[in-house]
Amino acid sequence: IKRIGLLTSGGDCQALNATMRGVVKGLSNSVENLEVYGFDDGYKGLIYGKYRMLTAKDFSGILTQGGTILGTSRQPFKLMRVPDEKGLDKVEAMKQTYYKLCLDCLVILGGNGTQKTANLLREEGLNIIHLPKTIDNDIWGTDMTFGFQSALEIATNAIDCIHTTAASHGRVFIVEIMGHKVGSLTLNAGVAGGADVILIPEIPYDINKVAEAIQKRNKAGKRFTILAVAEGAISKEDAELPKKKYKEKLTERVKKYPSVSYEIADQIQAVTGSEVRITVPGHMQRGGEPCAYDRVLSTRIGAGAAQAIMDEEYGIMIGVINGKIKRVPLAECAGKLKMVSPKDQLVKAAKQIGISFGD
Ligand code: F6P
Repeated sequence: IKRIGLLTSGGDCQALNATMRGVVKGLSNSVENLEVYGFDDGYKGLIYGKYRMLTAKDFSGILTQGGTILGTSRQPFKLMRVPDEKGLDKVEAMKQTYYKLCLDCLVILGGNGTQKTANLLREEGLNIIHLPKTIDNDIWGTDMTFGFQSALEIATNAIDCIHTTAASHGRVFIVEIMGHKVGSLTLNAGVAGGADVILIPEIPYDINKVAEAIQKRNKAGKRFTILAVAEGAISKEDAELPKKKYKEKLTERVKKYPSVSYEIADQIQAVTGSEVRITVPGHMQRGGEPCAYDRVLSTRIGAGAAQAIMDEEYGIMIGVINGKIKRVPLAECAGKLKMVSPKDQLVKAAKQIGISFGD
């Protein structure tokens, strides 16, 4: 008999169900007596003992279904050691649920924050396997996270759609792309969508350089310019500020602008006199069906987790490195962010074909 727990935590993405399906199908074919417990809404379900027993039927027909059949929630890592409003010790409560159900292993699907809590539970003695989910592709120790390629299709499509209207009106357009503090999604969507300017957090921009790129296009007779701007994009000036000062500036900025793109739009308008429009695809990027790439990746990661459970190897993340499924110790990867290197080959290629990064 094997008893495993499953939970999905943090922001959702497209291939969560496909991954869980991979884990459960991978085990069902080899383990005679399998019990699967699904926790509701991420760590919340584990803390408050909210779970249900799942059967093979629950995992049938969900390969293409976006979102998560378990529900999810954000439970910030920094609050995990802080008792809840009723004084409950959350970490102890999670351990109790785990032991009450006599779990052999808890499989946790989530991003960076989720991974930190997964590592904390490992340190507390639980058998944990983490599966790297996020549209941001910012998890250290894996080349690819599931969700990223599906979101990339959507973000690229957004830029594609903007092209025709930008060209008709001769406007400057900003397409703001998710990614939190990392520019991977913006960089890839910007290149795939043929953006003229790409602004990512890893390469702080100079607004005058951005304006120059637009003016250069105008002079060359191009009627429009499209900027792919990461939601975490930062100016050179702001990047040089001490952390505290930058936070203060951000607090002021959110009073005036809903996001960084609006500030950039104002600045471009002021310097170039161009008409600027902003499109924010937002959570659409996490919605809908997983693309074929993600279905394959998720199935491989899920099956990789099933194999690790059969081998009784825990305390790991199942990642993919150079095309091969790898077991990465949580102790090694938890808490590390994978950022885009300004020397990345894709950055180089983009610059080579004339895309400006405003640097
Ligand atoms: O981490 C995934 C992500 O979509 C980020 O790209 C984005 O910054 C964040 O989640 C949005 O979070 P929420 O769904 O809580 O608004």
